[in-house]
Amino acid sequence: MFQTVLQLLLLILLLETTMMHGSNAHERKAYIVYMGELPAAETSVMDVHHNLLLTAIGDEKVARESIIHSYRKSFNGFAARLLPHEVKRISDEEGVVSVFPNTLLKLHTTRSWDFLGMPNTFKGRNFAVESNIIVGLLDTGIWVGAPSFSDKDSGPVPAKWKGKCVTGGNFTGCNRKVIGARYFNLEGQDPGTKNPSPSDDDGHGTHTSSTLAGIHVEGASLYDIAKGTARGGVPSVRIAMYKVCWTMGCSDMDLLAGFDNAIADGVDLISVSIGGQPRNFFEDSIAIGAFHAMKKGILTSCSAGNDGPYTSTVQNIAPWILTVAASGIDRQFMTVATLGTGKKFSGIAINTFSPKRKMYPLTSGALAANTSAETYGNASACDYGTLSKDKVNGKIVFCMGNYGQDYTIQDLGGAGAIMALDERTDIAFTTLVPGTCVIPGDGKRIEHYINSTRNPLAAIEKTKTYNISAPFVASFSSRGPPSIPLNILKPDIAAPGLDILAAFSKLATITGDPGDKRHALFNIISGTSMACPHAAAAAAYVKSFHPDWSPAAIKSALMTTATPMKIKDVDAELGSGSGQINPIKAAHPGLVYDISISSYIGFLCKQGYNSTAIGIIAGGHKKYDCSKFQSATGTDGLNYPTLHIQLKTNTSRILATFHRTVTNVGYGKSVYKAKVTSPRSLSVRVFPETLKFNSLHQKLSFKVVVKGSLERNETELISALLEWKDIKHSVKSHILVYRPLE
Ligand SMILES: *[C@@H]1O[C@H](CO)[C@@H](O)[C@H](O)[C@H]1NC(C)=O
Ligand SMILES: *[C@@H]1O[C@H](CO)[C@@H](O)[C@H](O)[C@H]1NC(C)=O
Ligand SMILES: *[C@@H]1O[C@H](CO)[C@@H](O)[C@H](O)[C@H]1NC(C)=O
Ligand SMILES: *[C@@H]1O[C@H](CO)[C@@H](O)[C@H](O)[C@H]1NC(C)=O
Ligand SMILES: *[C@@H]1O[C@H](CO)[C@@H](O)[C@H](O)[C@H]1NC(C)=O
Ligand SMILES: *[C@@H]1O[C@H](CO)[C@@H](O)[C@H](O)[C@H]1NC(C)=O
Ligand SMILES: *[C@@H]1O[C@H](CO)[C@@H](O)[C@H](O)[C@H]1NC(C)=O
Ligand SMILES: *[C@@H]1O[C@H](CO)[C@@H](O)[C@H](O)[C@H]1NC(C)=O
Repeated sequence: MFQTVLQLLLLILLLETTMMHGSNAHERKAYIVYMGELPAAETSVMDVHHNLLLTAIGDEKVARESIIHSYRKSFNGFAARLLPHEVKRISDEEGVVSVFPNTLLKLHTTRSWDFLGMPNTFKGRNFAVESNIIVGLLDTGIWVGAPSFSDKDSGPVPAKWKGKCVTGGNFTGCNRKVIGARYFNLEGQDPGTKNPSPSDDDGHGTHTSSTLAGIHVEGASLYDIAKGTARGGVPSVRIAMYKVCWTMGCSDMDLLAGFDNAIADGVDLISVSIGGQPRNFFEDSIAIGAFHAMKKGILTSCSAGNDGPYTSTVQNIAPWILTVAASGIDRQFMTVATLGTGKKFSGIAINTFSPKRKMYPLTSGALAANTSAETYGNASACDYGTLSKDKVNGKIVFCMGNYGQDYTIQDLGGAGAIMALDERTDIAFTTLVPGTCVIPGDGKRIEHYINSTRNPLAAIEKTKTYNISAPFVASFSSRGPPSIPLNILKPDIAAPGLDILAAFSKLATITGDPGDKRHALFNIISGTSMACPHAAAAAAYVKSFHPDWSPAAIKSALMTTATPMKIKDVDAELGSGSGQINPIKAAHPGLVYDISISSYIGFLCKQGYNSTAIGIIAGGHKKYDCSKFQSATGTDGLNYPTLHIQLKTNTSRILATFHRTVTNVGYGKSVYKAKVTSPRSLSVRVFPETLKFNSLHQKLSFKVVVKGSLERNETELISALLEWKDIKHSVKSHILVYRPLE
């Protein structure tokens, strides 16, 4: 489905063609009516929903038929099919926070854990506590038959678990590892869904679940590539799968049903590798779900999106979410193409095929063009329909341009594809036929060889792994700053998301292409989707040491102990927030920046959200007087672990004040001193510069004043670092000033 950037592009094409048909102004469309916290009194929420609909629609029968689903376990709201004037009427009703259209969101080992300093043999675990932790994933389902989900070492299911295991279709049941599985397909309109069940016919949900909590499986590989022991970050943790994604995508109403149930079922953490364009927080299903999860002490980890390297593309930006960017680890997959002359070119791709012959005839798209073809495509780029089957059959074909031509070459019976990219890449896609992707300069050299040789030959070797320097922000990972003008830096953190080996579903092919015959127990895929469960696992690890910590405290621990990303490019903080997760350090952060629910409410007030709506969200339906929330002061109004300033275009003066409070979670008596690292153009002053704690859990406050000025034509990014240091800990807060150029 959408786990790779390539498949995403194909999907967008598909969606756009589908959406051109059948929109009618008088057709009922699906909306979510969000009504905040559940009422305290034992009122029948479903009657309330029906009465609201009846008032707006006026007809008892139509009102009954229009409702799709009531949310009533963890928050209040419903999904219904409505006409525009009914939407307007319902929006004006008391108790309604927002009414928004149901949209489709997208889905956005194990060496990565060794790379993060949690080797296989790591002893410092709290296994007993860890095995009592349940993580809920909202995803494409799960294939419980994967060796990573064997329950041979799992004890009894935690007593607190209240969830269900729904069987049917290809899904035969759960075990003591995968303790819950449900699916939500509320509209039931997905064309690819004949027999809905929690089973994973895509592979994405199996991959994310095993990255998070898969057990150790020796000898894991994709066709012997990346061979080693596969395992999740927290192998004792239990998995609960909420299938909310289908062939068309993941709809808001299904996502909300996933959250509604997961929270009520008793999960401890939620991982969501799905996203869409940022919206007002209370018209955004993931922000709403994560908010109610946070109120129940559950942290939600979300992927930051795959729209990088462009700035302002980050998704899932609500401050109560842990927003995770993707980084690369120290392993790269290289596939070598050898020409008849013996010259070798290294490309980036995953080729599971070993050549059967020493050499194959080689041609190019330009030379293999079908001159009588009736399409407008570009033969040099091997566009579909432009090549002659006769000239491609049995040959390796060189294609200019971009990914995806392996599909065309397979279709025409070609022996392989050498693709020349427009730009250098870091992401390795698995090819359908023997294939590799070379850089543009090498592409020119290969094409010159083809043009100047009578019988050009080539062979494509099977993929090998190479050691590279890491971490770095993956090119596709969405960058900040958040587009809703907030002085909250997003993404929060980075975790491995490039070329990740993890368990896969037997029901899917390794490329997701129906023409592909390859099924594997493990697969290598990329995306912030893969980064999100790494961060969720790190959060579960921290929680196993500190079961009583709030979501904000766990998030703070992960952020302030992260390893700052190497500044390969100027956007290290815009791309990775606080840096790469370091779970071992995060278990002992020294100090945490905690955030209470009332602080979030104060923040929402400061953001200009309607006080009536805030009252409904907070619960109790009382009108909130925003002026009462003194805590929301300073530039950002939230006790966030990073400090971020977004300037307006053409402004040059930087002046910001941040109020912060840290809680001592290290030693009882301790003294922390502030250390600031900043460029000369930025003055960062901390008041006071020393924090003296007398006891554990003591809170102390301080203020940070950031001043400076930017030249008109100067770079739009300035970063600095504030560290609180005692004898053992270094509590890092990144400071980032950003000004868009135009
Ligand atoms: C999954 O279910 C479908 C329809 O029920 C069936 O055709 C298919 O064979 C099943 N696949 C597997 C691998 O069991
Ligand atoms: C060339 O294109 C034409 C028109 O699309 C098609 O009928 C024909 O089969 C193609 N020839 C080859 C050799 O692929
Ligand atoms: C065909 O694609 C190649 C490679 O991307 C490009 O250089 C060329 O300009 C394209 N030709 C046309 C006619 O678009
Ligand atoms: C190779 O030949 C093709 C087709 O004649 C032409 O379009 C292309 O520019 C040539 N490339 C090189 C590098 O000589
Ligand atoms: C890559 O090299 C580094 C430094 O030499 C080493 O620590 C690491 O284990 C190597 N990684 C692999 C995959 O061999
Ligand atoms: C908040 O929304 C309610 C209902 O839509 C409206 O009546 C009220 O005037 C709004 N309050 C503010 C402060 O804008
Ligand atoms: C910023 O300044 C430039 C040059 O003075 C001007 O052309 C541009 O319109 C200004 N942009 C904004 C958003 O004010
Ligand atoms: C920026 O402006 C200053 C003053 O006008 C000038 O001296 C400097 O060369 C400019 N820098 C760049 C990178 O254009």
